Amino acid sequence: MKKLKINGNKKLIGEVRISGSKNAALPIIAAALLTPDDVILHNVPDLSDVRTMLKLLEGMGVKVVKDGATICINASQITNTKAPYELVKTMRASILTLCPLVARFGHAEVSLPGGCAIGARPVDQHIKGLQQFGASVTVEKGYVNANAIKLFGTTISTDMITVTGTENLMMAATLADGITVINNAAREPEIEDLAKFLKSLGADIQGEGTSSIRIKGVKALHGTEYTVQPDRIEAGTFLVSGVLTQGNVTIRKCNPNHLKSVLEKLSEAGAQLKIGDDWINISIQNRPTPVSISTAPYPDFPTDMQAQFMILNCISDGTSYITENIFENRFMHIPELRRLGANIQIENNTAIITGVPQLIGAPVMSTDLRASAALVLGGLAAEGETIIDRIYHLDRGYENIEIKLRSLGADVLRI
Ligand code: EPU
Repeated sequence: MKKLKINGNKKLIGEVRISGSKNAALPIIAAALLTPDDVILHNVPDLSDVRTMLKLLEGMGVKVVKDGATICINASQITNTKAPYELVKTMRASILTLCPLVARFGHAEVSLPGGCAIGARPVDQHIKGLQQFGASVTVEKGYVNANAIKLFGTTISTDMITVTGTENLMMAATLADGITVINNAAREPEIEDLAKFLKSLGADIQGEGTSSIRIKGVKALHGTEYTVQPDRIEAGTFLVSGVLTQGNVTIRKCNPNHLKSVLEKLSEAGAQLKIGDDWINISIQNRPTPVSISTAPYPDFPTDMQAQFMILNCISDGTSYITENIFENRFMHIPELRRLGANIQIENNTAIITGVPQLIGAPVMSTDLRASAALVLGGLAAEGETIIDRIYHLDRGYENIEIKLRSLGADVLRI
């Protein structure tokens, strides 16, 4: 199994280009099922989750041609509408094929994703919403079976804010008969990117980026050429790397507007920020000031940056509190960060962190994607050698991370 070896305590200095967004690319690739025409996507990150989504579509008979970060998808000749357990169990976002399949082909058989390291993560809102469009949906033998001769526009208010839930229902609505309103919709930038993509296919959507999205169904959608937005979580992770190592890092090809809550907290930590249209430069003179954080849906502080800010607080000059409100089990990085010498206590869903002047390298184990990002950051800040095991978690969401970190002067090797 591949590991990452880091010799830490080196200032990171230089520039890094941010890749396309994983969580925008995944629903957009699934949405290519909505049209029989060619969909050409640019800026698609080369990540294991993206490869899994493409494999899932290819298993249904979809043609995929890949040329670097450009992918051409054609779903004109579908042979089946099944998302099998073997693939779904490796990536929960596979549930995003449910609504496009039913909307275009009238049926889908998608494995239930099951539990997940960071929480139970049920998909009841996806199912309940699809039923509201008039589909008949049953769950049998671990599969969600959905059938509908036609979907009908409807008004849906989800019980909680769900990102992929909103995305699935948006896709169903594009081909439904009549008008759909999704209330309590997620407002994440990835929702806006999906809406922009769907509009480029000919969909009629208003209100994306607000909590009420209105979609007027159309008879059919056509092909398009589209560029996926930059990954705001990769961007945030590299910004933290600059602060943690007291370096000077510029991230290029990012969207600073998507990072407001993260930038506010970095500034509160004492970082100096220079911000351009599609770049951010970060540096810091002293040990970071502790920053307390409470995760919440966009535009508030993202759960996907929680672990990275925890490691920042671990070396800060004082005590901070991090409360995780989205997922019930997203503190699995804490025992591993303690192995690096971090001082963290847990009280319910709040971590109390007392900064230490220096972390010391140690062998650690990744448990999920963002936890592994925190361990990489920990290794970069720690004195001596850190070996991170199970980095397949990292490869789900960070493209060429060791190459990018080496370009900033980090001593990182994949072994
Ligand atoms: N929830 C339900 N029922 C549902 C749907 C959600 O109870 O039917 C609950 C979840 O269990 C959770 C909360 O609602 O407690 C919010 O979950 P959400 O549905 O918003 O999460 P998601 O759509 O499964 C996406 C990202 C995650 C990110 C979350 C929150 C993708 C592919 N995944 O997940 O990204 O953490 O939104 O922003 O977009 C990651 O990239 O590391 C990652 C986990």
